[in-house]
Amino acid sequence: MSVKNITVLGSGIMGHGIAQVAATAGYNIVLRDIEQKFLDKAMEKIKWSLDKLASKEKITQQEADSIYSRIKPVVDLQEAVKDAELVIEVVPEIMELKKKVYAELDAVAGKDVIFASNTSTLPITEIANTTSRPDKFIGIHFFNPPQLMKLVEIIPGEKTSQAITDLTKEFVKSVNKTAVLCRKDVPGFIINRLFIPMVHEACYAQDRTGATLEEIDSAVKFKLGFPMGIFELADFTGMDVIHKATIEMHLRDKKVIFPHPTIEKMFNEKKLGQKSGEGFYKYSDDKYERVALSEELAEKFNPIQLVANILNNAAWLVTNGASDIEEIEKAAQLGLGLKKPLFETAKEIGISNIVTELNNLAEKNGEFYKPDPLLVSMK
Ligand SMILES: NC(=O)c1ccc[n+]([C@@H]2O[C@H](COP(=O)([O-])OP(=O)(O)OC[C@H]3O[C@@H](n4cnc5c(N)ncnc54)[C@H](O)[C@@H]3O)[C@@H](O)[C@H]2O)c1
Repeated sequence: MSVKNITVLGSGIMGHGIAQVAATAGYNIVLRDIEQKFLDKAMEKIKWSLDKLASKEKITQQEADSIYSRIKPVVDLQEAVKDAELVIEVVPEIMELKKKVYAELDAVAGKDVIFASNTSTLPITEIANTTSRPDKFIGIHFFNPPQLMKLVEIIPGEKTSQAITDLTKEFVKSVNKTAVLCRKDVPGFIINRLFIPMVHEACYAQDRTGATLEEIDSAVKFKLGFPMGIFELADFTGMDVIHKATIEMHLRDKKVIFPHPTIEKMFNEKKLGQKSGEGFYKYSDDKYERVALSEELAEKFNPIQLVANILNNAAWLVTNGASDIEEIEKAAQLGLGLKKPLFETAKEIGISNIVTELNNLAEKNGEFYKPDPLLVSMK
């Protein structure tokens, strides 16, 4: 089985980027959306991005033009999938919509066509089982923006064949990305399981300690090796994305996340982060803007409860056979931009101190904080 022709379903934020990345690697792409105007916008963005790369001399103008010419925008679904060996689905994160799209797709795609979903939080197995080919269905989770982010999580569903998983790994490598396998279809996969709960935990940490946003963020950046503070990262990601991910993850597993009401409140108040001009911080416009963080401010907050939270989720992934420490570190480095391995930070703080912190938090705030057996065994 080999892949040359790919159809990308959905030309929004992620879809147009994935199309560009795959076309750059030499694949023939059909980009499909429900209306021509969405495709026009997506093709315009791709052209802008390729021309920018050419003007910076990262690629030649000739290469830019030939990459662009490998992407064909098509509205008609049947026409869009007629030559495809692989379909990457990148439609909005709404379960009912995804199921509807797969029902239509299943009816027109050849029986050997592989279906790969870019879902961030929806269960792969459940979507796969609505199709006639759960063995040829897989999760392929690119990060935003796909043109720049190196990491791709691969998530086989319960019935995905080993051959499809292997082929997907090869495909990810061929588009110059690094694949991390999430061996089980668990809520949040790897990165969102580490990141989303930590945003909520940072809100609790603020309530419990009275520390300022900047103090917490400075500690996250300078003591834990994040590229920016956790509130900054939440504003960058968007409260709509975080709120939606929270609901989906919490629906499937109460242990993964302890939702703080602030996120829902901010979502309802349309304080979505950078894109709306206000999130945890205020921004002068919708352009990317950094918060003033410092090592001095970092000294005012002890981030142990945040480390405890992220580490407990990392340990959960290992204990439950979804990943291992090495792969989690690779994912955290590429997906969250961590400059220091998580378990190294944990050892500096002391795993026994972290376990004690979790036990104290569990006593005051409930079972959610109970330390994972892996952490207890590493004390
Ligand atoms: N935005 C992110 O940061 C991000 C990161 C990783 C993964 N994801 C995931 O990627 C998926 C898409 O997210 P997005 O942010 O690109 O959404 P988006 O809303 O920007 O784009 C979705 C596109 O799909 C189109 N669409 C709707 N129905 C369709 C159909 N039947 N056929 C083809 N196209 C259809 C829409 O018109 C829209 O252009 C979601 O599953 C999301 O969870 C998003």
